[in-house]
Amino acid sequence: MNARTTLVEMARHNLSYAASGEFPREDDIFRVPASNYYDEGRWKLEIDRVFKRMPLLLALSCELKAPGDYKAMTAVDVPVLMCRGKDGKVRAFVNMCRHRGAVLMPDGSGNANRFSCPYHAWTYDQAGALVGVYAAEDFGDIDKSCNGLVELPTCERAGLIWVILKHDSTLDFDRFLSGYDALLEQFGFADWTLFDRRTLEGPNWKIAYDGYMDLYHIPILHRATFGADMPNRAIYYPFGPHQRLTFPDPSLAEKAEDEWSTTHLLDGVWTVFPHVSIASFGGGGRSVMVSQLFPGKRPEESITVQNYVMQTPPNEEQRAEAQAQFAMLEVVVRDEDYATGIAQQKALMTGAMPDVLFGRNEGGGHRFHTWVDRIIDTDDEDLNALFESG
Ligand code: FES
Ligand SMILES: [Fe+2]
Repeated sequence: MNARTTLVEMARHNLSYAASGEFPREDDIFRVPASNYYDEGRWKLEIDRVFKRMPLLLALSCELKAPGDYKAMTAVDVPVLMCRGKDGKVRAFVNMCRHRGAVLMPDGSGNANRFSCPYHAWTYDQAGALVGVYAAEDFGDIDKSCNGLVELPTCERAGLIWVILKHDSTLDFDRFLSGYDALLEQFGFADWTLFDRRTLEGPNWKIAYDGYMDLYHIPILHRATFGADMPNRAIYYPFGPHQRLTFPDPSLAEKAEDEWSTTHLLDGVWTVFPHVSIASFGGGGRSVMVSQLFPGKRPEESITVQNYVMQTPPNEEQRAEAQAQFAMLEVVVRDEDYATGIAQQKALMTGAMPDVLFGRNEGGGHRFHTWVDRIIDTDDEDLNALFESG
């Protein structure tokens, strides 16, 4: 089925629920052990078995538009260097020199023809090949062709770049993406523009991420900012471990289906397992906020990178609107979601409560926590089958 047809079906499905005054609910309330949010052993398992084995959405294609554009970052303590080669292909490497392991490029971005190590100037090209050894005649024989940068499995789809931090992973990106990428492709992110970015500190990554999968809190916690008139009922569409959150758009009911705009059809929140949320907005021209969540230094800490991405470069007026909206989103997430989450984290760490509850109306949390458990429990060689069956 083509992606637009799927999006139309979702919108139609949403409208049928709106007409009935009902919405889909899970069979039962779901419990997650409270210790999952603070236990050190559990947290290490999540890092080793989820973050180090699942594809992570580390960049937007628009950050690496031209050959030679690169981005260096540290993702769950792994130094990563991504670069678009002359052939147009994005590659990711462990950002580590093959001589003695120095970090090649400091975190940041730019355009480079070559990457030269700050320690002894070994040099690599955009495809990670070792092309220069300083004072080579003194160093001794070395086969350059076996000493390129260590490449990480990478996949560019829908204007988004996924990287697996484990260099020898055999996980199949298609199985992991479960068809979700074809829907995301409808945004056309490859041609969008990164307008601004900031980093926020939050509670345990799952406390933070739970909030991206729940509309139940929107009219309550966010009533003073944007939530007062928003629905609290989410309709979820899972694709493998990824979930789109929607709610009915009554304006669509007044139009013929072939007049439903792609923009409307893509509304809502698109979560990308295990750590990203893409939320659609209208202000200042068409824009989305891509939030990338990472575990912090301890179980009770996380880091969120908020990326404000626009369909077209803004004019003056749109720029001001986008700035105002991005500033508002800082307040919403920092002072409402994460302030609540940081206090919630401390409360849970008293150990006074055995489980947290996800209601029949909070199916996003049911599926997310089930997927995290399932992945933790699956050995490397069985991961592909997990997604096939998922
Ligand atoms: S560690 Fe990079 S050149 Fe020596
Ligand atoms: Fe929220």
